[in-house]
Amino acid sequence: MRIAVVGATGHIGSYLVPSLVRAGHEVVALSRGTRDPYHPDPAWDRVERLVVDRDAEDREGTFGARMADLRADAVVDLVCFTPDSAQQLVDALRGTGTELLHCGTIWVHGPATEVPVHEDGARDAFGDYGTGKAAVERLLLDETRRGGLRSTVLHPGHISGPGWDVINPAGNLDPQVWRRLASGEEVALPHFGLETLHHVHAADVARAFELALEHFDRAVGESFHVVSEAALTLRGYAEAAAAWFGREPRLAFLPWDEFEASAGAEHATATWEHISRSPSMSIEKARSRLGYRPAYSSLRATREAVRWLAAHGRPGLEPDAISALGTFDTTPGHR
Ligand SMILES: NC(=O)c1ccc[n+]([C@@H]2O[C@H](COP(=O)([O-])OP(=O)(O)OC[C@H]3O[C@@H](n4cnc5c(N)ncnc54)[C@H](OP(=O)(O)O)[C@@H]3O)[C@@H](O)[C@H]2O)c1
Repeated sequence: MRIAVVGATGHIGSYLVPSLVRAGHEVVALSRGTRDPYHPDPAWDRVERLVVDRDAEDREGTFGARMADLRADAVVDLVCFTPDSAQQLVDALRGTGTELLHCGTIWVHGPATEVPVHEDGARDAFGDYGTGKAAVERLLLDETRRGGLRSTVLHPGHISGPGWDVINPAGNLDPQVWRRLASGEEVALPHFGLETLHHVHAADVARAFELALEHFDRAVGESFHVVSEAALTLRGYAEAAAAWFGREPRLAFLPWDEFEASAGAEHATATWEHISRSPSMSIEKARSRLGYRPAYSSLRATREAVRWLAAHGRPGLEPDAISALGTFDTTPGHR
């Protein structure tokens, strides 16, 4: 197939693009060209790279025509956040035979009634990001139902892996949390530490997109959660992470106001964004329809990410931590 990937050099694309090339597809990778993929891979030499600012072209109204001109069999859209942006692409691709695979987010769901949450669970999103993605999902699936452009929507959880920061057991990106866990210092968690995070390794997200391409007839008109087998509680994650470093967990469970004061406004806001949703999603639909089998548990994905942080000089996570965290083959395709 000829496959265009929009937003191709990020977490997902760094795994997806080389894997599609190795599977024999012709890949066109679009991005603004401000960054390289997270991992070097010789497969990129066989990729057609296009420097495109999708936001700018959306504003000019030229992005849809550009995409239609590529005459791709499938477009994997990793950077679409609003219905207006999605509509331009839909209008341009309708009737061309191109298939559209859109990247959503589990934040299309708000707080859950039953867990794990299934794809037909309420769309009680809050915040611009989740509500925007929910509106895009609705637009694409309605379009498909009406017999227009054929599309599918994949909703990842917290995308994790080697090369970038990972949501820590306090539900934020504060590097001190890892340093404290590694050195056996006390770590503060909000409430009882029983709210949840649902990570997924970027390689598993990439694999889910490949499966949706391979089995598009089973994916079309549907949305799928793409997460690890099971969510983590903050407390369980913190305890496991302390054990990676050979430490007994020392956890302090604080009422929200005290947690907020100890974490500081920036990190507390990130924690709030995560725990006010406390995702715990089912992957049963992706498993049964697409054969999705995540290679990484949440703990394995996060541990690999932390090892990368340690190996790249994250303060407080230097040599001892690296050996404690074990070795991982971070070559894309090796899990
Ligand atoms: N990160 C998460 O934990 C998470 C969780 C759930 C869902 N998602 C969804 O995942 C998607 C993002 O995928 P990702 O995490 O793989 O991406 P990412 O790591 O954030 O990288 C973004 C990619 O898009 C390119 N890009 C950014 N702005 C662009 C623009 N205006 N025009 C063209 N290219 C642009 C970037 O390269 P340049 O900067 O060079 O353009 C890069 O290749 C989003 O739809 C997001 O909602 C992410």
